[in-house]
Amino acid sequence: MSVAATAGSVHVRAPGKINVYLGVGGRHDDGYHALATVFQAVSLYEDVIARHADDFSLTVSGVEDVDSVPLDDRNLAMRAAKLLATATEYTGGVALEIRKSVPVAGGMGGGSADAAAALVACDALWGTGLSPARMHDLAARLGADVPFALHGGTAVGTGRGDQLNPALARGRFDWVLVTSEEGLSTPVVYERLDILRGEEGALADDPPLSLDVPIPVLQALRSGDALQLAEGLFNDLQAAAVYERPDLEDVIRRGVEAGALQGLVSGSGPTIALLCPDPETAQDVQTTLRGAGLDPLHVHGPVAGARIL
Ligand code: C5P
Repeated sequence: MSVAATAGSVHVRAPGKINVYLGVGGRHDDGYHALATVFQAVSLYEDVIARHADDFSLTVSGVEDVDSVPLDDRNLAMRAAKLLATATEYTGGVALEIRKSVPVAGGMGGGSADAAAALVACDALWGTGLSPARMHDLAARLGADVPFALHGGTAVGTGRGDQLNPALARGRFDWVLVTSEEGLSTPVVYERLDILRGEEGALADDPPLSLDVPIPVLQALRSGDALQLAEGLFNDLQAAAVYERPDLEDVIRRGVEAGALQGLVSGSGPTIALLCPDPETAQDVQTTLRGAGLDPLHVHGPVAGARIL
């Protein structure tokens, strides 16, 4: 039995993410869309503490909208713990405590980070010792973004976003995140994209089921060049998110006016990610946007994936 397994609790930290590039293709028969995306893990974290228990239970604290987080089997962290127990024939339970910092339904993969952290925490607490490959498989079964939260760093995601290849990334990128009090539902935003594409007649020319990340985006990450990355920031879901939340465009405009190189909707939104040339500018952008009554946060990436503290 490992040292962790004999301890009373295990504390794991997992990061939220930004999709610096998100190309959305056609919808597969299972309802999921083909993606070509680049994830970057950023320094905004979910903390999950797992303690031995006979049954499965969950508490959640942290961000403002914490009351909207389900505490039953709809919660991805709870599902992660039960999936691991089933997969390893572990017969006990776990008391999970989640301390959230990533906005709820914000397009930053907060729920996915909880699931990745719960997998790592329970594996250590129970001493189940799963291989990285099996851990990845379980993560992918929980949700398209969960494998990335396990691995962290910068990675290209294809398939549903769950087939990961690490991307070389040099240096540090500074981002100002503007969070929203009210979240956006990911399925609603994908559905809106399909409707918008249908209205534009684009479905006559079916969206591809296999797509790639543009080379200049990968080059910008490899060279740590924020200016070049700013030119490549792209999100196919942005029009759909802006349709649901027209104010988001204004947030991007204000961020750029305040000194950001460029901004985009993170994932399915509504969080806006503003790329800044350096930490000092990011501080300035944060101060200006706060003065305008917004809720900005300065973070940096890439950072590591789910880790035991
Ligand atoms: O996998 P996850 O639970 O994060 O996905 C949430 C929802 O987002 C899915 O139910 C689906 O509606 C949409 N989605 C999609 N195509 C993807 C990923 C997510 O349509 N590749």
